[in-house]
Amino acid sequence: FSLKNFNTFGIEARAKQFVAVHSIAELGVVLQEYKTEKKFILGGGSNMLLTQDIDALVIHVDLKGKKIIKETDDFVWVESQAGENWHEFVLWTIEQNFGGLENMSLIPGNVGTTPVQNIGAYGTEIKDTFESCEAMKIENQEMKTFTKADCHFGYRESVFKNEVKGQYIITSVVFKLTKQNHNINISYGDIKAELAKNNAETPTLRDVSNAVIAIRQSKLPDPKELGNSGSFFKNPILLKTDFEKIHQKFPEMKYYEVSATEVKVPAGWLIEQAGFKGKRFGDAGIHKNQALVLVNYGNASGQEILNVSKNIQETVFKTFGIAIEAEVNII
Ligand code: EPU
Repeated sequence: FSLKNFNTFGIEARAKQFVAVHSIAELGVVLQEYKTEKKFILGGGSNMLLTQDIDALVIHVDLKGKKIIKETDDFVWVESQAGENWHEFVLWTIEQNFGGLENMSLIPGNVGTTPVQNIGAYGTEIKDTFESCEAMKIENQEMKTFTKADCHFGYRESVFKNEVKGQYIITSVVFKLTKQNHNINISYGDIKAELAKNNAETPTLRDVSNAVIAIRQSKLPDPKELGNSGSFFKNPILLKTDFEKIHQKFPEMKYYEVSATEVKVPAGWLIEQAGFKGKRFGDAGIHKNQALVLVNYGNASGQEILNVSKNIQETVFKTFGIAIEAEVNII
């Protein structure tokens, strides 16, 4: 079964077996039926690089539906099933003037995988509005609720990438959103500039969402046109003491404080300075507008993209002494 249409990199890789599940009951049946089989869980396929065929049963989580489960004067709790497209879900919340997700407009992928890497953009992360999620334990098909505290969220991190990696399938997520007094976050310079272009002085949720969409469309390739997985690497976090030594050698290096002892350096800057922005190696390349994004110009294999990523990591390390780590899951 070809997975080319099930991964946003558009990599041609095959699955030994493939099944799409549309309900929790179906998921339970499949997990029981194929108890001894190796399994691979697939959501929107937007954060992985397939470097080989998958010798396993691929389970595509395609649970649909979204609803309001509780509300007060100020807040609303909305539940989305895991297989809903993230951006469509965000637009649905904005249509109803529910605030909290607008800065994360146009992120590819499905709702069910957003908690796994605590997706984020323009100063907001999933963890800011996440209330809880439901997940099925693969081993015994029991359902478990993970509260925000259970999820151990960090920068592009959660319990699902660490302590319980590979053990659960997220089936739905609940977000707590604002109905009024929205916490509009336009702290990012890019957003401020975009809003100014449109003379939006007291921006609405839709204004912010539109600004984010415009910025993303100007920098990030549309996976439907050019295969990619968003940021390929994480922005490295360094101890201030280490950073200061590096910064002396490269005073023009960009950075943001993340705590009293740590700073984050934009990997896109490091990669651009190392000379990779817009470069192409066969059908694998580095996007011309955002060096953090690797792209598939057509028929690149996962291995070719992986080789480019290793080349980048080595060169960045040689140049700056900074190790950058993949954000995308390498399969
Ligand atoms: N930069 C360059 N050259 C480049 C790209 C970036 O010099 O080619 C420098 C610039 O100084 C720029 C800075 O890096 O000001 C930051 O760039 P940008 O605002 O584009 O964000 P980023 O740090 O590269 C992160 C997230 C994105 C998210 C944006 C906006 C990570 C790994 N990536 O990228 O998330 O959309 O911030 O908030 O944290 C994703 O995770 O897939 C993703 C796209």
